[in-house]
Amino acid sequence: MQSDFRMRRRVLAALAALPAMPSFAQGRPALLTRAIPSSGEQIPLVGLGSWITFNVGRDPEARAECAEVMRAFFAGGGRLVDSSPMYGSAQDVIGAALDKLRPARLFAADKVWIGSGAQGPAQAEASRRLWRVPRFDLLQVHNLLAWEAHLPMLLQMKKEDRLRYVGITTSEGRRHGEIEKIMASQPIDFVQVSYNPLDREVEQRILPLARERRIGVIVNRPFRQGDLTAALRGKRLPGWAAELGCGSWAQAILKFIVSHPAVSCAIPATSQVAHVRENLLAATGSLPDEALRRRIAQDIERLA
Ligand SMILES: NC(=O)c1ccc[n+]([C@@H]2O[C@H](COP(=O)([O-])OP(=O)(O)OC[C@H]3O[C@@H](n4cnc5c(N)ncnc54)[C@H](OP(=O)(O)O)[C@@H]3O)[C@@H](O)[C@H]2O)c1
Repeated sequence: MQSDFRMRRRVLAALAALPAMPSFAQGRPALLTRAIPSSGEQIPLVGLGSWITFNVGRDPEARAECAEVMRAFFAGGGRLVDSSPMYGSAQDVIGAALDKLRPARLFAADKVWIGSGAQGPAQAEASRRLWRVPRFDLLQVHNLLAWEAHLPMLLQMKKEDRLRYVGITTSEGRRHGEIEKIMASQPIDFVQVSYNPLDREVEQRILPLARERRIGVIVNRPFRQGDLTAALRGKRLPGWAAELGCGSWAQAILKFIVSHPAVSCAIPATSQVAHVRENLLAATGSLPDEALRRRIAQDIERLA
């Protein structure tokens, strides 16, 4: 009985890791999605980051450009937008754009980033007001700052239905040991880490642990903050790119990332409408299998 149950759980976990079949919506291909392990809710494999790109202050022209990036993102089927109180004016820029665009299917992912545990609730509320949303879908403890205090607060918010999911973040390989310990011991829904064809340390322990513990993975810095796409600029795409329907290195990098079965969503940031459209298209068509993933990583290591 017990082993039947375990087998059922394993089969369900394996099915959940497969991207859902795309269909056509509003004349464009619907984006490939993957289930959030803790709930089964499907989210598109490509989201939108906001660090630096949306920190444009009060400049009306720059704010309007950010709103256009968000318009293209939602029109292309995107849902998950990621920000943080650390990103200057980005939260307010996102909130103003949301006010204007009123997207039907936003997945609002923000963070708590403050050294004092006592000030966590006030910061989360200030962020919510800047975003102009009734509640966040996901709040993450940014870079594990004061996580021992913030995590119980976020879990309590989730219990009271004031928040849907709870997570933790890191980037550029920092504090992976501590991330693993939290993943193994706390009931979190998401972990956010850096992962791309050149930064693959998470493949060793964090991504397998995420699958085992049924924790969703959000991938930051897919383009190494633009250094990776810049290093590949002008280099000819190998033959496999056409096979995967990739018209650019950015799409090849994103397809590499989101084809890992533990990954829920990659969150490239951009200030350009053309780039947001290009990035979303990585969540359409076919994804590489394990052999092709290895080949993509090797080619990018050689060329970048
Ligand atoms: N610890 C944490 O929690 C943490 C740490 C880092 C990042 N993050 C999150 O992850 C998000 C992504 O990371 P990131 O912003 O550091 O870097 P990234 O997404 O790896 O790179 C962003 C850069 O890539 C360029 N880019 C985007 N699309 C492109 C395309 N199709 N072709 C060529 N270049 C393209 C953008 O330039 P253009 O503007 O010209 O498109 C931008 O300069 C952040 O914005 C943030 O939301 C979280």
